[in-house]
Amino acid sequence: MCGIVGYTGKGEALPVLLGALERLEYRGYDSAGVCVIENKKLFLEKKKGKIRELVRSLLGKKILGKTGIGHTRWATHGEPSERNAHPHTDEREEFAVVHNGIVENFLQLREELQKEGVKFKSDTDTEVIAHLIAKNYEGDLLEAVLKTVKRLRGAFAFAVVTSKEPGRVVGVKEGSPLIVGLGEGENFLASDIPAILPYTKKVVPLNDGEVADLTPEGVSFYDFEGNPTKKEVMLVSWDVVSAQKGGFKHFMLKEIYEQPKVIGDSIRGFLSKETEVDLRNYRRILIIACGTSYHAGLVGKYWIERFVRVPVEVIYASEFRYGDYPVGEGDLVIAISQSGETADTKFSSSMAKERGAKVLALVNVVGSSLDRESDFTLYTHAGPEVGVAATKTFTTQLTVLYLLAISHLKDYEELLKGILEVPRLVEKILNNGEKIKEVAQKYQKFKNFLYLGRYLNYPIALEGALKLKEISYIHAEGYPAGEMKHGPIALIDDKMPVVSIAVKDRVYEKMLSNIEEVLSRKGIVIGVGNEDDEVLKKKSKDFIGVPRAREELYPILTVVPLQLLAYEIANLLGLDVDQPRNLAKTVTVE
Ligand code: AGP
Repeated sequence: MCGIVGYTGKGEALPVLLGALERLEYRGYDSAGVCVIENKKLFLEKKKGKIRELVRSLLGKKILGKTGIGHTRWATHGEPSERNAHPHTDEREEFAVVHNGIVENFLQLREELQKEGVKFKSDTDTEVIAHLIAKNYEGDLLEAVLKTVKRLRGAFAFAVVTSKEPGRVVGVKEGSPLIVGLGEGENFLASDIPAILPYTKKVVPLNDGEVADLTPEGVSFYDFEGNPTKKEVMLVSWDVVSAQKGGFKHFMLKEIYEQPKVIGDSIRGFLSKETEVDLRNYRRILIIACGTSYHAGLVGKYWIERFVRVPVEVIYASEFRYGDYPVGEGDLVIAISQSGETADTKFSSSMAKERGAKVLALVNVVGSSLDRESDFTLYTHAGPEVGVAATKTFTTQLTVLYLLAISHLKDYEELLKGILEVPRLVEKILNNGEKIKEVAQKYQKFKNFLYLGRYLNYPIALEGALKLKEISYIHAEGYPAGEMKHGPIALIDDKMPVVSIAVKDRVYEKMLSNIEEVLSRKGIVIGVGNEDDEVLKKKSKDFIGVPRAREELYPILTVVPLQLLAYEIANLLGLDVDQPRNLAKTVTVE
């Protein structure tokens, strides 16, 4: 998820672009850049690092121009660097583009352009857009853009300027957000409302398949066929901070609701490049991770053993590091870490590598230590996760692990259909948010919770308990339901809600009997199961439903109500949901 901005108007473009980018930094911050049209030439400045690096590099440079675009990057293709920073230009530096999203077919377009002699300067998918617009330009920027978008596949929001037409900015929206801001004698483009709030509260969100053509005098809107479209102007009442949370009270809630989109982005990201790792080539697979990422690994174990038939062990990185686990030649280590910087995970994966194992990193941050130090890398495309509690990075980790597990199967296409349904199913669960808020209201004062699950939902029970613990400070324990009779059942009474995940999978009947064990000891059951399951509803004091899905996909669905339950309870308790006490977003120390 990146941030893009565009400006054309009566004022100097540069200060507007830099201010707008600073307000979009929560969307990504590994590199930034601007392009201003000055005396009919493109002036470009790009810097690795945060916006302040870019501002620092511009100090003392007198760049005067009233049209420009800017970008703050969250890398998806091509590691964070100056050469991969946006804006990207054509060879003659007459067209500049800033882009947010993934052009799925960029490799094919890149090869086609290279065959025509085009020289590329970066590893990004974005650069193909600049070269295509230059190739399609016959005197009108809008026409060139309309021809270009017909060739692009995937999710993309981009803005483009050309030194041939100072005063004009064209914006395109397909899959990634883009809004227009309407000013007096000036107009704006931005990925999100915060960027332009100080200048105007009149915004026009673009829909997929729409183009905006901006000049200082006004803005015209078209569909991808070039037909004019009518647009409603929206008046924004938010301040900048709440706008950065997209109107949500906390980043964590915003990130929970971003899951349908970022799961879709992660599927697109996975499909947009060859899977360089074939799990069948390994004798044994060892997953190393911490916290929520460890729980993702536990789910991944079930999928890999089911689809690939290679034995998988999942070990806490902090345990692996000091144990004597026999790992070496022929083994694959999958290091899961959204930050790519967790100390225990980093050290453990480099230890495994020194002993001869191959290391595959699954990270959310391109260019992170684990990304750079591993033999292979897969990326989640969750965008920056600001809330300390991992939510969207967890479901995107599951998404990529699932795709990895099925990627070399002969019925891959069939299985792919299932995961492509997941964003819509998660959306459905999120639409039931009010029900989960009611459940949270009833149970916010309890001091202990037990979370039960079996098979693929055992790790989800662990994850649901961790979410509650870390943001509401209520003691919660996740447990394999089959283990109840070996001790924990002694805990059951009417003072400890038991969240029981019982979807219609291979262990459903077993889960029902575990729930009976709880009920017969006056326990309180909060059932999480299929929305049409009348049997489970009857047994549950409170019930949260999830839609029907292929059995193996349930973990990506059942975790969502548990994320929301934890959030709502913590919010009701008035706690600092985004920055819980004692916790840091990334644990870079042992
Ligand atoms: C999860 O909500 C926590 N923020 C924490 O357990 C986290 O998952 C863990 O520290 C691992 O972080 P990583 O994925 O960046 O390695």
